[in-house]
Amino acid sequence: MDARFDISDAEVKSERLVMKPSVIGRGEESESVFEIFAGDEKVGKFTIHGGWMDRHEIFKNIPNAELGCYIDEPYWGRGYATEATRACMDFLADSLGIELFSIAHTPKNRASRKVAEKLGFTLYEVSQFYSKTRGRFVDDVRHIWGLTY
Ligand SMILES: CC(C)(COP(=O)(O)OP(=O)(O)OC[C@H]1O[C@@H](n2cnc3c(N)ncnc32)[C@H](O)[C@@H]1OP(=O)(O)O)[C@@H](O)C(=O)NCCC(=O)NCCS
Repeated sequence: MDARFDISDAEVKSERLVMKPSVIGRGEESESVFEIFAGDEKVGKFTIHGGWMDRHEIFKNIPNAELGCYIDEPYWGRGYATEATRACMDFLADSLGIELFSIAHTPKNRASRKVAEKLGFTLYEVSQFYSKTRGRFVDDVRHIWGLTY
């Protein structure tokens, strides 16, 4: 895990949700992960890692984090992703001094786009790159949104 995002002692709360640090599993070594609960029910997870903004010279010295929110399908459309993301940004800004956030999603992911818009993010770039999926290199595209805090 990136030491900049040590969330091991954190518990983040919002009006309806509680985010608790989760045990980092195989393949997630570079991410910090919160599990998201609504009452007793686990409704999704939240990931934090060094992101796209690191690649840009102008943002080089600005503490930044890329956010990923994953809500389980039965709970979609209740505003949980928006609420969880806002609460995590408040926590990361207050506790770890993060000043810049990014969200990356595939072009077809309209729900993520809406969440980014609702939170006041700006579409920063459309990035095309090669990624390795199931052992093969493929063309990939991400919409990258940024927000200074
Ligand atoms: C993206 C995701 C996290 C959104 O979770 P959520 O809790 O449903 O999000 P919210 O309820 O806070 O907001 C979703 C918004 O998108 C809108 N939306 C959902 N599907 C949409 C679509 N196909 N087209 C346009 N808008 C859409 C909703 O209406 C809502 O907007 P509203 O509040 O104005 O009505 C969830 O769909 C998810 O986990 N998807 C799979 C994983 C994923 O793609 N994660 C993002 C990785 S960056």
